[in-house]
Order: sequence, then C-alpha cells, then structure tokens
Amino acid sequence: MGSLSGRRIVLGVTGSIAAYKSALVVRELVKAGAQVRVVMTPGAKEFITPLTLGTLSGHAVHSELTQDRDAGTWTDHVELGLWGDVVLVAPATAHTLSGMVEGRGDSLLLTVLLSAKCPVVVAPAMDRDMFSHAATTENLGALRQRGVHVIEPDTGELASGLTGKGRMAEPERIRQELTEWFRIQAPLMGYRALITSGPTREPIDSVRFIGNRSSGRQGAAIALELAHRGMLVDFISGPSSVATDHPGIQRIDVETAMDMKAAAEAALKNAMPDTTIGVAAVADVRPAHPIDGKPAKSELPDAIEMVGNPDILAGINALASPACFKVGFALAHGDGKAAALRKLTAKNCDMIVLNSIADKGAGFEHTTNRVDFVHGPDRIDSFELKTKEAVAADLADEVQRQLLQRPPLEQSGR
Ligand code: C5P
Repeated sequence: MGSLSGRRIVLGVTGSIAAYKSALVVRELVKAGAQVRVVMTPGAKEFITPLTLGTLSGHAVHSELTQDRDAGTWTDHVELGLWGDVVLVAPATAHTLSGMVEGRGDSLLLTVLLSAKCPVVVAPAMDRDMFSHAATTENLGALRQRGVHVIEPDTGELASGLTGKGRMAEPERIRQELTEWFRIQAPLMGYRALITSGPTREPIDSVRFIGNRSSGRQGAAIALELAHRGMLVDFISGPSSVATDHPGIQRIDVETAMDMKAAAEAALKNAMPDTTIGVAAVADVRPAHPIDGKPAKSELPDAIEMVGNPDILAGINALASPACFKVGFALAHGDGKAAALRKLTAKNCDMIVLNSIADKGAGFEHTTNRVDFVHGPDRIDSFELKTKEAVAADLADEVQRQLLQRPPLEQSGR
C-alpha cells in the first residue's frame, strides 16, 4: 500500500509566487488517486486562477467565506475541514503560517484549518531571508509542536534572484512525503472495522433488565486505537458511558442483543468491513416475554422464561468477506484455551482474544487486562497485564499486520 488512493486532501494554496506550482501539486495528487478540494487565499488568486485549480481537481474552488452576498450564502468551512483526511497547505506563506500559529480566522483557509480535525501538513515557500527570520523559525517550531508536519523547502534559486533556502519543495517530492507521512501516521487509512462492544440489557419489564458487568472500556479503547491509525470504525455499543469521540468512529448505541445484531448487520450491509471485532459481552439469553410497564413486587412472576440470543459475531462473520480478519473475545473463568479454540471454529473467527477473570486485574470493571491471542492450536501469543489501551494497541498491531497484506475490501464511501 502506501499510495494516496482514495485519500481526501484539502489543498490550501496561499499567495506566494510558488502558487503556480500548485497546479502540478493537484495533478500529482489526483494522478495518485486522491480526491482534492482546493481552498485559496485571496492572495493566491494573484498568482494562479481558481479556474486552473478547479479544472485540475474536478471540484469547485473556494476562497471566500461569503459565497453569494446577495443570496446570503457562505462557504461551509467546517464541512470542508471535516471532509479531509489531511489539509495540505502548499505553498504556505509566512503570513498564513503566522495566522495558523495565532489561530486567526481572517481567511477561509484559516477557518478551515481551525475547524479541521484531521492532521495538517505545510510546504513553506518564501524568500531566503523571510524563511531564516526568527519569526518564521519560531512559527514553524510552534506548528511542529502541535503535530503539523513541515515539508522542508528546497535550497536554490529564488524568485527574488537570491539563492538560499525557501523554494517550495517540488510537487513530486510533496506527493512522496505526503504518501510516506500517511503511511506512518495513518497506516490503516481506507480500511474499515466493525466492532460490537459493551454489555447488553435484556428487559424483564419496562424498568428491570438482565445485564452484566461489562464497562465497554476495552471495546472503546480498540475503536479509538484503530481510528487513530486511520480506520473507519462502525462501533455498535451496548449501554456504556465510555466516550469514543473521533471523526473516524461512527457510533450506534443499542440496548439489547437483538438491537445489536440488527445494527451490526445494517452496518455490514452498508459497507464491507476489513475486520470484525466482537468485544461485546452479549447476554446469552433474554426473557421470552418482557412485560410492558412495571409490575408491582407482588405481581412479579416466580420464574422468568428465557430464550437464547443469536450469536451476533458468528452471524456477521458468516456474512463478511472471506478476506475479512475476524476477531472474537472470550472471557473465561480459568485457563479457557480449549474453549477459545472451539470458539475460533464455532464463530468462524481468525483469532480469539482470551481473557480470564481468574487473572488479577483482568476483565470487567478493571482499567487493565491480560490477554492471549489464540490463532490456532499451534499459535497462542501471551501478553503481560497492561492497560486496556495497551491491549488495544497490541490488537491493532495484529490487525495491521493482517490487513496491510492486501488492499481495502471497499473504497470507503464516506
Ligand atoms: O460464546 P462467548 O459468549 O464466550 O463468545 C464470546 C464472543 O462472541 C465475543 O466476541 C462476543 O462479542 C461474541 N458473542 C456474540 N453474540 C453472542 C454471544 C457472544 O457476538 N450472543
């Protein structure tokens, strides 16, 4: 992998003479399969026309906060900021860089940058003395501190006639660095996960339910870790107060096992996942006839008839692609390895993450967990007790090893 295929790039073009090269930047990115939407500062239009960049990118170019003064319409900078997998500012002038540091919003591009939740990359372009000025050095330092990636300018002949560092990197190098940066920052961009997480609640009546001690912490940690690595995550969660705020996570909250099954199947129909991860502690049974309303204590039945719940993970795994990497969790009381091996086949999984409530600090209601990755009788990887976030990182490493051997099953249709 490592290509820009399917990646969504907001290209910010600012008022430097190097703006003429942004036409080639657009071409390089489009040729590599990226979708590009251009935002220009008013200054950039002195150097290159919106028509050029609009034609090459295949999308309308935006430069003003107000779209049509008479109609009272405006350019939705928030939507633009949220659309991109990255905002690339090339060329980035000293003026725009300082605006970024200050958090100013006096151009459409700066407001897009303030709204963007995605990473930002800048390719500075300016004259030698402007580039070596302490203000520019400090501004670039501050941006780097905030996680902005800087594509260093080249050294050579400048438009002013001077020779030195400040010439915007060539479009081909910008594409190469961006590709490499994506590979490192978001190696799983374009891949999709379907996660079921948390407990389920099976109603006895309108108030009482049968539930379990799952907090949803492990599932949330996995969803966040995969989203940080660039994946789109359909996260189907039973009742859990653990937050999973990330633009890559689409969360659907459910209560019962039947709701969880319906939501998981709907997500799978909407887009083929590259990996399914069943972390949910799904109730195995539910009251057969939940009572509408709240019966008084004296009216409660002596026994509640139960029916079995369907196995959600086995169900979605049967519908998923054979190439999908399918992971189930299993909570055991003791050793549990034999049971995990049985579940591997019964649930059509490629791997079972086994944890045992016999291990101190593992399982429900803990912030730590101790797991084994059961791939088959000949391969069981055991891990130390660690935080649920660290367990999520180990699992994400395994998912990554599996998925990077092949392209995503489906172009993410966000
Ligand atoms: O059989 P057991 O409940 O131990 O299986 C655990 C695994 O199966 C977990 O990944 C859990 O999310 C999934 N599961 C499921 N639907 C059920 C029961 C378990 O998806 N009804």
